[in-house]
Amino acid sequence: MRFEEFFVREGRFVADGIGLDEIASRYPTPFYVYSASAIRTKYRLLKDQFPAFDICYSLKSNPNPAVCGVLAHAGAGAEVSSANELATALGAGFAPENIVYVAPAKTQASVERALAAGIYAIAVDSASELELVESEARELGRPARVLLRINTVERQPEAKEVMVGGPSKFGFDEERVVADVAGLELKQVRVAGLQVYSASQVLDPEWIVEHVKYVLKLARRLGREIGFRPECIDFGGGFGVPYNEHDKELSPGLIAGAIRKSVDEFRQANSGCRLVFESGRYLVAEAGVFVTRVVRVKESRGRVFVICDGGMNAFSRPLFMRVRHPARLLNKLGQKQTHEVDVCGPICTPLDCIAKGVRLPEPEPGDLVGLLNAGAYGYTMSLLDFMSLGRPAELLADGGFLVSS
Ligand SMILES: Cc1ncc(COP(=O)(O)O)c(C=O)c1O
Repeated sequence: MRFEEFFVREGRFVADGIGLDEIASRYPTPFYVYSASAIRTKYRLLKDQFPAFDICYSLKSNPNPAVCGVLAHAGAGAEVSSANELATALGAGFAPENIVYVAPAKTQASVERALAAGIYAIAVDSASELELVESEARELGRPARVLLRINTVERQPEAKEVMVGGPSKFGFDEERVVADVAGLELKQVRVAGLQVYSASQVLDPEWIVEHVKYVLKLARRLGREIGFRPECIDFGGGFGVPYNEHDKELSPGLIAGAIRKSVDEFRQANSGCRLVFESGRYLVAEAGVFVTRVVRVKESRGRVFVICDGGMNAFSRPLFMRVRHPARLLNKLGQKQTHEVDVCGPICTPLDCIAKGVRLPEPEPGDLVGLLNAGAYGYTMSLLDFMSLGRPAELLADGGFLVSS
């Protein structure tokens, strides 16, 4: 976990030069704060190891415009999953030719917007979606590049969210794809490659290596059998982050070394073919902290409840995805973690406990609780309007300045 590296300086909790307590004195809690330099560091960690790949930022993980802007300016592409995400990506400065559209329920309007914007490619999940893209492309009188999303039969990783292997709403079943696309009359649409997103939050580098090799082999075979020249292979990604204190960090360098030979061979045989990794949480999760303020500390039958002004309404992820985000008292750095407590929010349900059984220094009303690794699927996955408590601010700290968007 990179929290200390990104958010601790000279005995203080800071985000890009600004104290988190100072931010809390200027903005009402709860809020999210993101560190631009942390996002840039994570992007470089991937890009430097995979120079031959385009790294496409998955906006669903955090579509905050300022966060998107940091990645667009760092050189990332974008992976969008709705027309609104596409608009955000374009507004943030991602070039259309670096945007891919991947989603399981594309509507006619969203396909039309993607084509009109001139994005690089649309990943299609079924023959009927191919037909939809074809008819929209004809209507607009412009060619469309598509990637066939494949529900592979590769070995599955150990991860909470696995998208392939069984029956799935995502992609063509690998064993049927050749038959599914045979006979379709495609005039404006060009099949240009594959997209395979198999799982999220993978921390096993060996599985990612195996996955890349599997997809390269599949691309060769399907290129021959379906009859397309690979112009782009999108491997998805699934790069995980160490959410828990004991999780191991994923090493992109290890993966890069192990896939180099296969990738080089593929590129020699398919010159000009674009290679893409999609990544959301790896780029932004550790760059964000959710900050909430203690309203009351209450003991009941042997348990201590630290009741805060923002809980599952503003940060639903710990409950929704059952992730134990580490907690800190942001104004008590360096004090001994002597108290075992449950950090709760203001919502009228016992479910509203966002950090259970965590150790903190002695908590008091007014203290600031920070939940770490909150930069991905935090704000965007939350029940923000529940109980009408107002939405948390999202703040990006960048070079000593705060941007609110
Ligand atoms: C198709 C696709 N691409 C990319 C992502 C981003 O995943 P992550 O944030 O784990 O990198 C997801 C997440 O669900 C996805 O479904």
